[in-house]
Amino acid sequence: MRKSAWVTIFTVCLTAGQTVGFPEQTENPTTEASFFDDAFAEIDSEQYEGRANFRDVPANLTGAHLYRVQLKNNEHKRVFLDLIKTEQIDVWMQSRGKKAKAVFMVLAANVEKVNMRFYEADITLKRLSDNVQKLVDEENPSENVTKLSNSKTGYALTWKAYHKASVIHDFLDNYATNYKDLCTVEKIGNTVEGRPIKIIKISSGGDKKRPAFFIDGGIHAREWISPATVTYIIRELVENRTAYSFADEVDFYIVPLMNVDGYEHSRTRDRLWRKNRAPGALCKGVDLNRNFGYKWGGKGSSSSVCRGNHRGPSAFSEPESQAIRDFILKFDIGTFKAYLTVHSFGQYIMYPWGYDYMTPPDGTELQRVGDLAAAAVKKLTNTSYKVGSSAKLLYAAAGGSDDWAKAVAEIPYAYTLELRDKGDYGFILPAKFIKPTGLETMAMVQVVAEEMLKAERLKKN
Ligand SMILES: *[C@@H]1O[C@H](CO)[C@@H](O)[C@H](O)[C@H]1NC(C)=O
Ligand SMILES: *[C@@H]1O[C@H](CO)[C@@H](O)[C@H](O)[C@H]1NC(C)=O
Ligand SMILES: *[C@@H]1O[C@H](CO)[C@@H](O)[C@H](O)[C@H]1NC(C)=O
Ligand SMILES: *[C@@H]1O[C@H](CO)[C@@H](O)[C@H](O)[C@H]1NC(C)=O
Repeated sequence: MRKSAWVTIFTVCLTAGQTVGFPEQTENPTTEASFFDDAFAEIDSEQYEGRANFRDVPANLTGAHLYRVQLKNNEHKRVFLDLIKTEQIDVWMQSRGKKAKAVFMVLAANVEKVNMRFYEADITLKRLSDNVQKLVDEENPSENVTKLSNSKTGYALTWKAYHKASVIHDFLDNYATNYKDLCTVEKIGNTVEGRPIKIIKISSGGDKKRPAFFIDGGIHAREWISPATVTYIIRELVENRTAYSFADEVDFYIVPLMNVDGYEHSRTRDRLWRKNRAPGALCKGVDLNRNFGYKWGGKGSSSSVCRGNHRGPSAFSEPESQAIRDFILKFDIGTFKAYLTVHSFGQYIMYPWGYDYMTPPDGTELQRVGDLAAAAVKKLTNTSYKVGSSAKLLYAAAGGSDDWAKAVAEIPYAYTLELRDKGDYGFILPAKFIKPTGLETMAMVQVVAEEMLKAERLKKN
């Protein structure tokens, strides 16, 4: 266990109405929650989500601190937003509502200044790490763990470590060879840097078409638990197939690693890289989860190339998002009944809309199935997941893949999962958590698949 310490901060009074550039709020209690929306809407389009300036120089994480904070009133929120705007803190996770919580990183050079600012504002921080580099160094066991398992399974992939992209792809190819009747692997496109994007179809149906279920992982490079968990799901559906009665009634299409370039960059150069590796004179990369073509360009997506949430020059400008779009649209509308896109972190099961604070007409059904999935996880591993629409739980973010899946591809059960944890490690989740996270995510897949099949049977009767 790492040491974590409550950094206790004593009261200093601040007068109201200081000039940090946000509109004054009335005391109407309903505006408390909406303050964050309005204030973030203002900077959303600018720099929210992740490292503000995504230039190609990796941050020095030695001595960088990780904190959790709860923002209890508008004054707290103003201070926090000001620190984001001035690029003194790097937000890793942010939830909305009255008890707005955030996890953020502060580089060593800014630690003193930032602590002073929170101190002055009477905001208590919980320190989760005093050296993010140490988390990175201890996250992943050495490659020899991989080599040991190789002889047993025939593939190098394990769920004891995070692996490079080629190991993930070799695992898919191994299944295509060794489970010929069940698995088909296809290249659905190439990344910006020319790496293949691979999909595996897992189906015992032969040519017969059954309700189809699409899963993708690794849209965001630094969220390593995502591809690790998605390969765990693939393994369960193949090697532990008899444990799941729904498996023979569903065609699964799974892309474990969408942003292959970004992932490799995060492994070899910059652990906190998020976007793809689209070229740019000043800054590289497009946020693929702001690049999908439904309400593209709206809230929570930036036109600035250096931002972590840069949406790209146009909808589907990137080969990675194009590959997903083109693959799904090759099928008749109505083929896919469920869509899961797997992210980290925060422990959320979210459904559309992400582009604004609204839910689709079948929002209650999406909530119901999400609640069932969360209950299944709670029972299995005692991990708590919150369920709700993306914009309402976290923040508005237009151009997300789930909104596109729901609105354009017309996939009824469309969810974004934010896997473990709640910020103790954040993106740098140690490899020992891959198995329990895989186990509980498989339980979510099971619930969504079973409920989707039930709905199909009802329609037929
Ligand atoms: C990173 O920062 C630490 C502490 O601030 C310093 O000792 C180290 O030299 C820096 N590393 C690089 C590569 O700049
Ligand atoms: C793997 O290598 C590390 C050193 O890098 C060593 O401590 C450990 O015992 C090795 N594990 C196995 C299973 O060989
Ligand atoms: C197979 O699935 C069952 C049911 O989810 C689970 O309890 C079991 O641990 C799995 N077995 C393996 C080898 O993963
Ligand atoms: C389950 O988690 C809750 C917190 O979410 C905790 O209070 C409780 O003790 C846990 N139960 C077990 C059996 O670990």
